[in-house]
Formats: sequence, structure tokens, C-alpha cells
Amino acid sequence: MAERPKKKSWAEPFKIKMVEPIKMTTRDHRQECIKEAGYNTFLLKSKDVYIDLLTDSGTSAMSDNQWAGMMLGDEAYAGSENFYHLEEAIRKHYGYKWIVPTHQGRAAEHIISQLMIKKGDYIPGNMYFTTTRLHQELAGGNFVDVIIDEAHDPTNEHPFKANIDLQKLEDLIKKVGANKIPYAAIATAVNMAGGQPLSLENLRQVRSLTQKYGIPIIHDATRVAENAYLIKEREPGCQDKTISQIVHEICDLTDGCTMSAKKDCLVNIGGFLAVNDEELYKKAQNMVVIYEGLHTYGGMAGRDMEAVARGLAESVDFEHIKARVGQVKYLGEKLLGWDIPIIIPIGTHGVFLDAKRFLPHIDQDNFPAQALAAEIYVESGVRSMERGNVSAGRDAKTGKNRRPNLELVRLTIPRRVYTQAHMDVTAEAVLEVFDNRKRVKGLRFTYEPEYLRFFQARFEPAS
Ligand code: F0G
Repeated sequence: MAERPKKKSWAEPFKIKMVEPIKMTTRDHRQECIKEAGYNTFLLKSKDVYIDLLTDSGTSAMSDNQWAGMMLGDEAYAGSENFYHLEEAIRKHYGYKWIVPTHQGRAAEHIISQLMIKKGDYIPGNMYFTTTRLHQELAGGNFVDVIIDEAHDPTNEHPFKANIDLQKLEDLIKKVGANKIPYAAIATAVNMAGGQPLSLENLRQVRSLTQKYGIPIIHDATRVAENAYLIKEREPGCQDKTISQIVHEICDLTDGCTMSAKKDCLVNIGGFLAVNDEELYKKAQNMVVIYEGLHTYGGMAGRDMEAVARGLAESVDFEHIKARVGQVKYLGEKLLGWDIPIIIPIGTHGVFLDAKRFLPHIDQDNFPAQALAAEIYVESGVRSMERGNVSAGRDAKTGKNRRPNLELVRLTIPRRVYTQAHMDVTAEAVLEVFDNRKRVKGLRFTYEPEYLRFFQARFEPAS
């Protein structure tokens, strides 16, 4: 007789109404594909991928409710009904007053950076995100990382690794002066740290410090509901709050947000900028017409805005978010059980392999995380993404690779797309590579683009 289970199983809180077949390929074929893609998983064709864990961005499955909303797209150039529904949803769930729709998150980053940053300014943030930092730099600003040191240590078990080091923040304000700091850029569920959450307590402290100096906070709300779930789980005094209440509390402590709706909001495309300052809103409204489209669609079709509005409401549902973050935890715990080095605590939207400990024989300038992502693909058809030295880019002053402490491969889980069985297969694929890790070789560039090089760079094996 089989052994009785020690704990109760859990299952996805949805059933599947429509399926999309996926295909397993041969190792020989994948070997060809990765070579052709210059050992960059961004350059693979999706038809050659078995389980696609490249990103959780725009890859989620929409609900029947969202698809029904798509049919109600009011495709008017101006004043679409769906815009007003979106505006209402953002006001209700996040609480920000003024909304400018954009086609995705980086467009909102572009607008806010151009409007608020002057040449020579400093923008403190809790670890960089690739597009966010680039837009700050293109506007003439300097990004300064003020996240707690624990965030840069993949083995540190701090429950809120997205927290801001108040000392670092105040030191910066004193050094450069508050008038050189247009805003603090605070992200929830910090992506590059491994999907690590920010605590409410820390955000309150950041709020009172920045308020003292008259510095506003712009919130990267891309994964705010996922952060709220981990606050509910981990932060003392928050267990009885709803996800919705916590999300509201976070947003209330900030002055505006940039949003990639392609993550938390469960859509394939969309985003927005939301602010409380009416003057700033008017300027953003004026700018969106140059780069995105009219201020009541900003690069989205009416149906897309409807799907965002509905997805946003679904994102703060407890059963949804518990299963979403729970699935990430399920995969992470499997890998931890086999002593595979991953970032701990397990974060919100993916499991992050620590390539420095996984492949200690490869120097960081031969891009161990890039090589590991390529190897996992060849082994199994599972596509992941590098988040290390390639993503970090070169230091603008020295021209050298930044060699960040975190050299990671992200196995990112799309929302509501894969089952626990896919997670089992993924875990076993990573284990297979781990058992044969000594065979993996480093890489060197054959082509290096100027901006956001990780997207289009090409490599070859370093001899
Ligand atoms: N901020 C965060 C925290 C993000 O993760 C992303 C995108 C953006 C902003 C930019 O939004 O893609 O809609 O323009 N992250 C994706 C990822 C690309 O794979 O992590 P976007």
C-alpha cells in the first residue's frame, strides 16, 4: 500500500476550459536552436520551447471573465467606456487619483522620468530594474541603490529583502541635497533581488523620512499584489488584513505608480502611470499623446483596457494570489530539497538559481547565468532567463561589466498557465543539469548591443 500523505495536497483554484498544445523537441534540435540563437534564450523561437519560463510578463492566462470583457471593447478613439472602467478599477483597488494609460510599463517609466528628472539628479531606489534605470539615465539622472545589503546576498533569509536601508537613503539626501532628488523609486516585489517583498513597516519609515525632505515616492506597482500576499504571510500584525487592504495601504504611502499590467493584472499587454498630483497628471496627459496615443487609450485597444480592469480586480483575490505565489514556492522547495542553490527566501514570481554557486568554475565575465540558462534549455526545452552580469550591463564611467553580486537564472512562472506537473518536470530538468554541472562552459560576446544588451546579445562558448 502506498504511504499516506503527511500533509494535505492543494490544487489550482481554477479549471481549464481551453488548451494550447505544447511540443517536446529533441536534444539535437535544441542544440541547433540555441547555437542559432547565440546562446541567448531571448532569441529562441517560442515554437522550439517546451515549458516557457522566460518571463511572467504578458504570458498569463486570462480568465473567462476577462475574455468576456474583451468582447465589450469600446474601440472609440476618444473617451472609450473601457478607459473609464479602468480608471475606476485603479482608483478603487490602488487609490491613485489620476490615470494615464500606456502600452506597457516602460512607457510609463519613460513619461515619469522625462517629466520629473533633470540632468544631474539622483534617484534612489530599492535595487535597479533594467528598463526603469535606463529611463532614469536617459533623462539625465543617476540611479542610486539604497536597498538593504541583505538583498544582495542570495543566502540571507531576511523576510523583506526589498526593504530600503534608511541610513543609505538619508546619507544620499544629505550628500546631494533634497533638491537633487526628484523622487524615490520604490518597487514592490523587487524583481532583480529574486521577487523579494517590501514590508509595510519599512515603507512607512521611508515615507516619513522622505516627507521630512519633501521628496515624493513613485511606486513600481508591477507586482504589488504578490508583495501584499507575502506581507500577509510574513509581517507581524498583517495576518488578518485582506490582500486588497494591504495593496491599498502600500499605494496610500506613495504618490504615484508606474505599472506593467502584464504581470499582476493578468493581461498580455498594457500598463499605466497613476499619480495623485493633478499638475503632474496634466503634464503626463500632454506627453502621452506624443509617444503613446490619446490620453484615454495610451497605446491600448479598448478591449485591452477592459481586460486590465478586470484582471486588476482578480489580482487581489486571496485564492488566486495564494495559489500563484504557492506554485512558485512549490517549485522552489523541490529544488531546495535537492540542495540546488537558489535565492532564499523563495520570492513572488519565480525561482532564481544562484549561478555563482551552481557553476563556481565559470568566471563572472564568462556569464555563468547566461550559460546555465542555455544549458537548461538544451537539456530539457525549459526556457529561463539570465539576470546577472549580462542584464546589469556596463558601468557608464569605467566601461567594465558591472559584475553584480547576484548572478541568477530566473525560472519565471506565468500566472495560471502551467500545472504542478509542469513544475515537477522543470525541477527534474534543473536537477539533471545540476548533476552534470561540471560540463557547462562559459560564454563570450559575439555581439553586444548598446542598450538593454541582454535582450539581443549573442554569444559563443569561451574555449
Ligand atoms: N518594472 C518591473 C519590476 C518589471 O519587472 C518590468 C518588466 C517593468 C517594470 C517594465 O515593464 O515590460 O511592461 O515595459 N519586466 C519583465 C520581466 C520584462 O520579464 O521581468 P514592461
